[in-house]
Amino acid sequence: MFNKINTLGGYFHEYQKSVSEPEKFWAQQADSFYWRQRWTHVTQWDFEKPTINWFCNAKLNITENIFEKNLYTHGEQIAIDWEPNDPNEASRQYTYQELLSVVNQTANALKREGIKKGDTVILYMPMVPELVIAVLACARIGAIHSVVFAGFSAQALADRVRDAEAKIVLTANFGYRAEKTIALKQIVDEALEKSDLVQRVVVYQRTQKEVPLKKDRDILWDEFLADTSTDCPAEILDSEDPLFILYTSGSTGQPKGIVHSTGGYMVYSAYTFANVFQYQDGDVYFCTADVGWITGHSYLVYGPLLNGAHIVMYEGVPSWPDSGRMWDIVGKYQVTHFYTAPTLIRALLTMGNEYLEGKALSSLKVIGTVGEPINEDAWHWVHDHIGQNRCPVVDTWWQTETGGVMIAPIAGVTPTKPSFATLPLPGIQPVIIDNDGQEQRGNSVEGNLCIRYPWPGMARSIWGDHERFKQTYFSQFEHYYFSGDGVRRDEDGYYRILGRVDDVINVSGHRLGTAEIENAINEHPLVNESAVVGYPHPIKGQGIYAFVVCPQTSTGGEAGIKQSIEQGVNKLIGPIARPDLIQLVPNLPKTRSGKIMRRILRQIAAGDATSLGDISTLLDEQIVDIIINEALVDV
Ligand code: WT7
Repeated sequence: MFNKINTLGGYFHEYQKSVSEPEKFWAQQADSFYWRQRWTHVTQWDFEKPTINWFCNAKLNITENIFEKNLYTHGEQIAIDWEPNDPNEASRQYTYQELLSVVNQTANALKREGIKKGDTVILYMPMVPELVIAVLACARIGAIHSVVFAGFSAQALADRVRDAEAKIVLTANFGYRAEKTIALKQIVDEALEKSDLVQRVVVYQRTQKEVPLKKDRDILWDEFLADTSTDCPAEILDSEDPLFILYTSGSTGQPKGIVHSTGGYMVYSAYTFANVFQYQDGDVYFCTADVGWITGHSYLVYGPLLNGAHIVMYEGVPSWPDSGRMWDIVGKYQVTHFYTAPTLIRALLTMGNEYLEGKALSSLKVIGTVGEPINEDAWHWVHDHIGQNRCPVVDTWWQTETGGVMIAPIAGVTPTKPSFATLPLPGIQPVIIDNDGQEQRGNSVEGNLCIRYPWPGMARSIWGDHERFKQTYFSQFEHYYFSGDGVRRDEDGYYRILGRVDDVINVSGHRLGTAEIENAINEHPLVNESAVVGYPHPIKGQGIYAFVVCPQTSTGGEAGIKQSIEQGVNKLIGPIARPDLIQLVPNLPKTRSGKIMRRILRQIAAGDATSLGDISTLLDEQIVDIIINEALVDV
């Protein structure tokens, strides 16, 4: 396997190598994979264009690196332990050999539908093994998967199906979420009402309940798989062929389809998984993320399976049947590695320690967090009570666009500090740049977090809009990739992520564009305009605060309007984007040139309007006082 770091000195040594000779360093890591044809150049890149290529002209299939490469040693080992929503339902298990057989069957079924290399496939599914199987089946035949989180609304799904130009959608009749069922197939039907491109919908039957099937379009999963062979030769791809598209939010209203490559993503997701988590044979790794997010892609599916790991996949929510469920799962499967989000930790911590009583947590060795900064209280609770002062807590900073972890401790190797993502992984060269474009050298500095040199796992484009890719990531600060985050490098050279510096908010680790939510609110017939900002929320990290201009209220009065705004957002995006607070305001604070001064609204929402700074460019200063007086938080 590739170089595994196990001492702090070893880390510094590898890091130094990766900076002084990046091509040699990455070639070394890539050497341990199974390539059908070797690369001609390790990397060719140009951030001005931008073009990014890794392992140029190499040929491979990522699933051969999960399966064929390891079958002799890992064939009989468990790949997936699946825990259903309801603890009384039977769990399911797949060895690597069994997983390969169903992946191949599913791949053959997709081929029979005419799906081939380069075609896009939308997956809108609950957290069942079939979702992972479908992802890998796409990869087996070179189809580009795009998983849409099954909490998104019909409209959001329709936008993604259209943008990805998908001809086929894989879904389930229903999904379970605690005691509720979600009518996924019905949402798909609604989403496809206006689409004539999608000719096939495959429906996995998660529950017994039947759903209407549209003639000539819909097919049940079992029929889809009927009479398919368990052999399917892997399609041989170019290293730069896209592996998947994953939609994420940005500063503007339209979600972006982030495109990831095959070869570079493979090397990066596997390398970072092995090193950050220090996974070893015999360990059991449980990642709580949904496959609908990048964490699920890189650290539930690809990174772990490329390392032959034993994963635990959980269908349900952390608080059901009660707030001890996570710890029951840890005990049941003897989990050694637990990777989760700070919001989950905060939610469970507020429920109290009685849910820990009698739970078997002694198998745990490493705890990881991702998605947002982990505050000190949550860090200490998870460290002391879940990790029982024994397990390193690795706070991992990265993004949908980076493909894998960028700044994080190496478990058990890098000394940790609560709320610090600590040090960059080998191959990653962070740079801090101030708003004037000046690099901030040395320690005890802060500014915009940029990256100087490409890494194999980075995104290659935005689907169908390369210009936007350039504008968003490579134009703010010349010669660098710009992350959109602010960062501080402290006196020890440790990195602390300060949060987004753009109009992106992070609600329970879910990334949302304020413009996206505003667009949804503005669809309401009585709304003139709106401004959405994030505000500190004890559990979610950030909550959504909407300031809405709505001159006339309808018969339902203010409460009625607010409710219908919430419903609208639910319908257009999904429950994750529903505002926590809606304040109806006579007007928004705007500059004379008509630009909304969000800075002021952010301060009000944060409950701190004591010094609003320069507001002289405001068209109407009085509006600020009105908004403060009627604010829904203590200002
Ligand atoms: C944004 C990316 C990477 C998978 C999940 C989120 C924030 C992520 C951390 C962390 C502080 C973090 C950043 C980043 N973020 N991890 N450890 N500490 N902030 O992926 O949806 O693409 O969101 O999440 O603001 O830009 P994503």
